[in-house]
Amino acid sequence: MGKRLRVGVVFGGRSGEHEVSLMSAVSVLEAIDPDRFEVLEIGITKEGHWLAGPGVMEFLKTGSRGEKVQPVGLLADPSFKGLVQVRQGGPMSRDAVIPVDVFFPVLHGPYGEDGTIQGLFEMANLPYVGAGVMASSVGMDKAVMKAVFRDCGLPVVDYVVIKRKEWENNPQLVVKQLEDRLGYPCFVKPVNLGSSVGITKAHSPSELEKALEVAARYDRKILVEKAVEQAREIECSVLGNDEPQASILGEIVPCNEFYDYRAKYVDGDSELIIPAPLQPEVERQVRQLAVKAFQAVDCAGMARVDFFVTRGDNRVIVNEINTIPGFTEISMYPKLWEASGISYRELITRLIDLALERYRDKNRSQTSYSAE
Ligand SMILES: Nc1ncnc2c1ncn2[C@@H]1O[C@H](COP(=O)(O)OP(=O)(O)O)[C@@H](O)[C@H]1O
Ligand SMILES: [Mg+2]
Repeated sequence: MGKRLRVGVVFGGRSGEHEVSLMSAVSVLEAIDPDRFEVLEIGITKEGHWLAGPGVMEFLKTGSRGEKVQPVGLLADPSFKGLVQVRQGGPMSRDAVIPVDVFFPVLHGPYGEDGTIQGLFEMANLPYVGAGVMASSVGMDKAVMKAVFRDCGLPVVDYVVIKRKEWENNPQLVVKQLEDRLGYPCFVKPVNLGSSVGITKAHSPSELEKALEVAARYDRKILVEKAVEQAREIECSVLGNDEPQASILGEIVPCNEFYDYRAKYVDGDSELIIPAPLQPEVERQVRQLAVKAFQAVDCAGMARVDFFVTRGDNRVIVNEINTIPGFTEISMYPKLWEASGISYRELITRLIDLALERYRDKNRSQTSYSAE
């Protein structure tokens, strides 16, 4: 057997989804194939400190810090090929490098799923699981994502993007314009968040006004969309690089009026149905669109693409792409692969292999040019 690859599993992070990330990462740490991989736990605290070593997960969950947990940093200099131990008062030393063969960011939301940490891996020229910088940031920005989807001919709902400033300067005018353009009910969303945080369904001018106020607290850009009425929520997992594959489909049946934060994490009565009961023709269409959406943002490794399918007339609409979907063993993304014949452990292995494949492919490209 060859040398095991050292996988740096990165979790936690400076995001509202810190805890969700820990849950996903616990599952990954438990299931990753020990015959092929040696795991290095890398935790990022809510303040943004990086720690590495066995016991980091324990530390982030309970605050009790074992001896082996050490402060580390990742330098943009590719010659280090891993993390650097941070020593109080001491200079940064080449003897203090903890080598890492490939990173697996199990981070959700800002500073994890939005291209920022991916940019750091790129600078250091180290392989990492999942989407690159651009696909990550496009997937995080709901306004740019919709524009890209629309431009690629994917069906998206009617929407308007407004700046917080515009809304603050002339709230009445903005409400009036949105009313004329979209009508009620509509969905108001901060552009750069996930987990339904800051999202409201508005049924009237006063609700719309309140919804805009809420969204403006979280972001300087606000997306307002026509509500898809009578919509079923259908999700598809995609896996691959240049030839992505689509999984069997799943359906979410939210326990609230829509799939809001409480329905996702608090009330816990939302149902996942796998496979989603759909006519074969509709299923085929959704899977095809999932691959198209993945390619539209030039995604890599994995993504979950979420759809609305209208009851009755089966209209299919792309809602969003998530480049680091929930990744616990019972989350939709791995569940859909399990139903499609790929176990959770095998899925992790494939994602790491895809990361290495993409890295090799990228490093094949010429980086210098001289005019003859
Ligand atoms: N245009 C829409 N029509 C109907 N329901 C919507 C619409 N937009 C969002 N929703 C509801 O709100 C939920 C969260 O919205 P989404 O855009 O997926 O944000 P997040 O990134 O936070 O998951 C969806 O799962 C769905 O239940
Ligand atoms: Mg969503």
